[in-house]
Amino acid sequence: MNKKIKKILKKKKKSKIICLTSYSKNIAEEADKYADIILVGDSLGSVLYNHDTTKKVTLTNMIDHSKSVRLGVKKSLMVVDMPYQTYNSTKTAFKNAKKIMKETKCDAVKLEGGKKIVNQIKLLIKNKIPVMGHLGLLPQTNKGKFKSKGKTAKEIKQLISDALLLQKNGVFAIVLECIKTPIAKQITKNLSIPTIGIGSSVHCDGQVLVTDDLLGLNQTNIKFVKKFLNVKKYINIGLRKFASQVKSKKFPTKKYSY
Ligand code: KIV
Repeated sequence: MNKKIKKILKKKKKSKIICLTSYSKNIAEEADKYADIILVGDSLGSVLYNHDTTKKVTLTNMIDHSKSVRLGVKKSLMVVDMPYQTYNSTKTAFKNAKKIMKETKCDAVKLEGGKKIVNQIKLLIKNKIPVMGHLGLLPQTNKGKFKSKGKTAKEIKQLISDALLLQKNGVFAIVLECIKTPIAKQITKNLSIPTIGIGSSVHCDGQVLVTDDLLGLNQTNIKFVKKFLNVKKYINIGLRKFASQVKSKKFPTKKYSY
């Protein structure tokens, strides 16, 4: 087993697992100092390309951004999202996951869903491609607004059985997105693998947020996003200074000229 995955598994019940998204080298270099897992999320579709869903993200988008991220990740486990419709069948899932692993040199892939995609997950793991699961709100197939999951008895039963099924078939961790607190707590308690929460309470073994959201680079009003910094403010200061010094001919001085 990948040493980084072993280390992450050992953290369950001992210390919280930090997962951050990155779409490029420069953010990855900083995220790598704090993260156990760096995820190249297909959220890049909405965050960088203004798509209204993650459905339009292509395999090429994911591979190109992941190649850049790879340059900045030294110690964390690097996971790449398989985009929508790239794992519809076992054959396509294997072909595309192999391509992602080979071209990006990532450590693992993430797929959204439970029972419906278990055969794909089984085949990848059988072929030594580590898989991270993703349950609850599934952005690739979600219809309409962001709504929490685990409200009805049927939904709760499905979430719990999907989590156990993914664990049984070898995923090393599961992202729980927008799952009601008591259900996320119960799933986390029932599993021996870690859960990584996003909008699913403090009871998960780790937490993930989209880095651009938590830094205030991307404007969003999703309930689970806490803005830890307003990076745009600092970008603005730097750019304003540049523009002002160019206009006043204070830049470039001799020091910056050939
Ligand atoms: O696409 C993404 O960034 C994700 C995380 C937010 C979990 O799947």
